[in-house]
Amino acid sequence: MSSKYVNFEGIKFPSVYNVEWLKFCRDEFVVKNDDVIVVTYPKSGTNWIIEILSLIHCKGDNTWVQSTPIWERFPWIETETGRHLLCTKEENGPRFCTSHLPIQFFPKSYFHSKAKIIYVMRNPRDVVVSLYHFSKVLKLLEPTDNFSKMLEMFSQGNVIYGCWFDHICGWLSLRENDNFLILTYEELLHDMRRNVDKICHFLGTKLKEEEIDLVIKNASFSVMKDNKMSNHSILPDYIMDHSQGSIMRKGISGDWKNHFTVAQSEAFDNLFQERMTELDQRLFPWDQC
Ligand code: A3P
Repeated sequence: MSSKYVNFEGIKFPSVYNVEWLKFCRDEFVVKNDDVIVVTYPKSGTNWIIEILSLIHCKGDNTWVQSTPIWERFPWIETETGRHLLCTKEENGPRFCTSHLPIQFFPKSYFHSKAKIIYVMRNPRDVVVSLYHFSKVLKLLEPTDNFSKMLEMFSQGNVIYGCWFDHICGWLSLRENDNFLILTYEELLHDMRRNVDKICHFLGTKLKEEEIDLVIKNASFSVMKDNKMSNHSILPDYIMDHSQGSIMRKGISGDWKNHFTVAQSEAFDNLFQERMTELDQRLFPWDQC
């Protein structure tokens, strides 16, 4: 395995993630009842949902999103910096957190808490395309120049945070729980207002129509792309090669059609069918959006 990665119980993580901390995170990190946690598989719209939630929290006002880096607004449970921010947070009110962890590595304390999780899914075909491009930008990842190679690794689950299918099946096992909300990237693109309503209802937050308008405007792709607190442009060169692109790449659904060959598309459809037959296909509405 590349030195860019560490293996924790069969799954690859960037080597900046210490295995001891991943263990601590699962076994000892204390999730609090009023925590609001974003959980996603990488490249599924994590930063977008964080921006939306930050803006909902501020009733559409953009002061917080324009002044505080996104990783400080919603610290990562599985990174040491994130843990430090979360464990030392002194203000009252809900703690916001983010994680890409597969369910088996998530803090055990969550499973007997009332903390709320918002789980965002995206068409895996667009996820792998986004990951392919991002692997050239984020220096914590091994760059893959060849899309076919990336698709093969993704299909085998040989990528950071493990297999997409396992991640989705694991987390969707919680779908009947009141403190678990599922959203999709494609539905957010298709009808942001409806989804902001859904999120507000889930969080018990009431926003006026004009406040929702502000959330929609300030979380749009074009505004986020220019917000240096959200577009990762302030990360140093040893973490991101800004000359290779940006995390705010295209922000569309269906870009996979520009990357997959017909044969790759058919093979992936078969894999999807094989892995997801047990689940109601209405959970995956990307083809309808
Ligand atoms: P693309 O690479 O397909 O453009 P994550 O935050 O989980 O790393 O996901 C990154 C993906 O979300 C990127 O997809 C990025 O462009 C997209 N994204 C980020 N903000 C968005 C927004 N406001 N609207 C639509 N897509 C957004």
